[in-house]
Amino acid sequence: MEDNAVKRAAEIIAGGKLVIALTGAGISVESGIPAFRGAQGLWEKYDPMEVAHIESFRRNPQKVWQMLSELYQIVLNAKPNPAHVALARLEQMGKLTAIITQNVDALHQKAGSKRVIEFHGSGESLTCLKCGKDYSIDDVDLKQIPPTCSCGGILKPDIVFFGEPIPPYALEESFALAQKADVVIVAGTSAQVYPAAQIPYTAKQRGARIVEVNLEPTPLTGSVTDVFCQGKAGQILPAIVEEVERLIQT
Ligand code: OAD
Repeated sequence: MEDNAVKRAAEIIAGGKLVIALTGAGISVESGIPAFRGAQGLWEKYDPMEVAHIESFRRNPQKVWQMLSELYQIVLNAKPNPAHVALARLEQMGKLTAIITQNVDALHQKAGSKRVIEFHGSGESLTCLKCGKDYSIDDVDLKQIPPTCSCGGILKPDIVFFGEPIPPYALEESFALAQKADVVIVAGTSAQVYPAAQIPYTAKQRGARIVEVNLEPTPLTGSVTDVFCQGKAGQILPAIVEEVERLIQT
């Protein structure tokens, strides 16, 4: 990891008035949850249009639920890693206003972050496609595939499938923040899925500075990113936050 990039990132964050973070699957990789793209990504094993499109879910819920139950086994046993903890600490320090996450694993909340906007919904709750009844994941028997409602309808996790809209409150709140933020920390996202990937561009147009943390460059890196910290989020974010803490104490 490049110390200089970490220092520059920390200076930008420490000097920021409204700092937000945009996170993606990469931030949970060190918690044991596979990302979608890249080496060992889920989309190498599954075709997203077959398992993550709402039409596929409606057509063949049994098949989609096979993948979902496999993922739930991993996600429900996963714990926040030092990257999640570092962002929670930054919020506690008063230096992070909100996290916009594309993840549905609730690990930011489990790490203690309070203001988390779940841009792609949440895996913690499910809705019956027939009668609309809501369920908590704790009340669903994941051994039954697909899980069903007391009315016999099929349950769908409240995650955004391809072909479904972003929850309106998440969209509005995220873009309102993107327009006001003066710093955006982008961590562990390939920045390929829109409209989430638009957030750093919108912020940049309003003059924000972009700090990016990723194992590898993304389309943001050569365009809007001001400081690129290459490496594992679980190592880099704690180092940045430690440096921010040092800066604001002195
Ligand atoms: P991706 O899987 O597309 O990208 C993960 C990114 O994290 C890649 O750029 C990796 O280089 C990086 N990465 C992997 N491990 C890392 C680590 N330890 N530290 C830092 N970076 C690491 O995930 P997203 O960008 O979140 O949508 O994907 C966006 C959306 O595509 C997801 O929300 C999901 C998917 O289809 C829906 O399900 C609607």
